[in-house]
Amino acid sequence: MKLEIIQNQEQLYKRAVDIISNHLKNGADTFGLATGGTMLPLYENLRNSTLDFSHCQSVNLDEYVGIPKDHPESYHSYMKRQLFDAKPFKAANIPNGEAQDIQKEANAYEELLKSLTVDLQIVGVGENGHIGFNEPGTPFGSESHVVELAESTREANARFFNSIEEVPKKAITMGISTILRAKSILLIAIGEKKRFALEALLNGEITEEIPVTSLLQHQNVIVLTDLNIDDR
Ligand code: GLP
Repeated sequence: MKLEIIQNQEQLYKRAVDIISNHLKNGADTFGLATGGTMLPLYENLRNSTLDFSHCQSVNLDEYVGIPKDHPESYHSYMKRQLFDAKPFKAANIPNGEAQDIQKEANAYEELLKSLTVDLQIVGVGENGHIGFNEPGTPFGSESHVVELAESTREANARFFNSIEEVPKKAITMGISTILRAKSILLIAIGEKKRFALEALLNGEITEEIPVTSLLQHQNVIVLTDLNIDDR
C-alpha cells in the first residue's frame, strides 16, 4: 500500500486525476467508480479535464434500493450529474436498485463484474470503515449482495436528503472480494471523520470489523489523504 498525504485538497485531487490519467495512458479502459461527498471534487476536476472516457466502461460500487433512478440522490442521478453528462463512457454500469428481485439483480451484477477486469477501482471510505456499502462484519469473501444499511451510515448520508426518514434502508453493493479483484485501487479519505478508518488501515490489522482493512490484502493500493497522520 502506498500512502500519499497531501494536505492541500486541490493538489490532492489533481494527484487523483493524474493517477487516472496515467492509467488511461497505459491502456486502462475499465474504471470502478464511487460516489459520496469525497468524490465530488474529483468529478469536478475530471469534468474540467481533457480526459476522454468515450472508449471506456465504468462499473459503480453500489446503488440504493428503494428510491427511483431519477431521484436526485440515487447514484444513477449522481453519476449522470457529476460525470457522465460531461464525460460519457461507452458503457456505464450501476446496479439497478429498482429491480423487482434485488437479490437476483445483485447476482447479475456480480456476473457482469466477473466478465470484465477493472483496471482501477476508486473507493471512498465510510466513517465506520465501510467500503462500497460493505458494513462492518461483512465477510471479506463476499460478492455483490443486498445490504441493510447501518444506522450510522444512514445518519452520515442524511445530509444529502431532506430528512433521515428519506434515506434508503437498503442498497446493492459490490462485495469485498469483488472490489479486491480490481487490478489497482485508489482510496481517497478526506477529513477528520475518516481518521478512525484510516488509522485502522495504517495500523495494519486486517479485520472484518473494519472493512477498509481488507485493502491490506491487495498488492496495488494507493491511499490519498489530507489527514495529518502518523505514517509508521
Ligand atoms: C457512502 C458510499 C461509499 C462512500 C462512503 C463515504 O455511503 N456508499 O461508497 O465511500 O459512504 O461517503 P462520503 O465521501 O460522503 O464521506
